[in-house]
Amino acid sequence: MVKCFPECKEKEIEHLIKKYKARNKELDKKISDLSQQLQGCQKNVMSSGRTEFSHSPIIYMVTPTHTHSEQKANLVRLSHTLLHVKNIHWIVVEDSVSKTVLVSKFLQNSGVKNTHLAALTPHEIKMKYNDPTWLKPKGVLQRNAALQWIRENVKPNRDGGVVYFADDDNTYSLEIFQEMRNTKKVTVWPVGLVGGLRYEKPVVKDGKVTGWFTYWKPNRPFPMDMAGFAVNVNLFFKFPDARFSNEVPRGFLESTILEQLNVKMEDLEPRAENCSKVLVWHTRTEKTKLKNEQLMIKQHGQGSDTNIEV
Ligand code: UGA
Ligand code: MN
Repeated sequence: MVKCFPECKEKEIEHLIKKYKARNKELDKKISDLSQQLQGCQKNVMSSGRTEFSHSPIIYMVTPTHTHSEQKANLVRLSHTLLHVKNIHWIVVEDSVSKTVLVSKFLQNSGVKNTHLAALTPHEIKMKYNDPTWLKPKGVLQRNAALQWIRENVKPNRDGGVVYFADDDNTYSLEIFQEMRNTKKVTVWPVGLVGGLRYEKPVVKDGKVTGWFTYWKPNRPFPMDMAGFAVNVNLFFKFPDARFSNEVPRGFLESTILEQLNVKMEDLEPRAENCSKVLVWHTRTEKTKLKNEQLMIKQHGQGSDTNIEV
């Protein structure tokens, strides 16, 4: 008995080792199969445009800009905001026949990933210096040029992303970019200092947009400023003809594009703590009066050096 015990034990242990080795092999195989499956799933998620799972969809920020005394100051200020934003692609579209030296040089040195385009507003639509600011639509053909670039250069679904129409004179907090980053269809939030009010905003009940806090033309389908919403890039591929128009009544640029994208109020995804925070402001840059330039020429024979860029 005493002799037999260790022999039996040895056999038993040998058997167990064999059994566990086989089980180990099985488990290794299972781990390898599962990790392959996981990789496949990750690839699918990335290519499905399911933004809630992907890490950081690109923000395509579309900015029309035009030649005027304050242009460079506006662009410098805006670029310094964007330098703090990850994964942003700035599409800057000049309202000019071709790209200007000023904007080209500025963008090259800006440190922000960008695409530089030009699209001229036709003479009959172009604002004159002394026109009231609301007289004609602005930035229309420029935003359309950006949409065309996006449709030609972005791979829908595979790349994913968000489109934000951001004018060059507004003020953008860094938080607003986080708020729009994951946009399934259309995200919305309040805009400060607009429409003759401290802010305009979507009204939110139980996490859904139910109406609008706005005074000016409240019957517009989407009575909000351009700075108050962002759109999943895939929507521009689903509706390839959607574009801005110079023909729409005043204040209808935003509504018209959203209607063409077949957006309904119930699709809107409220951001900025259920639209209770102002994270973007419709600021406007004051037109600087350069009246002494002429007086300088008159009195001293020459005005400021035009070789010095302002
Ligand atoms: C408001 C809205 O915030 C704009 O999004 C909208 O395009 C505009 O009204 C409109 O109704 O057209 P507002 O501050 O009055 O904006 O307009 P601006 O900021 O002067 O212009 C909007 C964008 O278009 C700016 O990025 C500006 O640089 C650009 N722009 C302006 C041009 O490309 N060409 C111009 O002749 C004037
Ligand atoms: Mn503006």
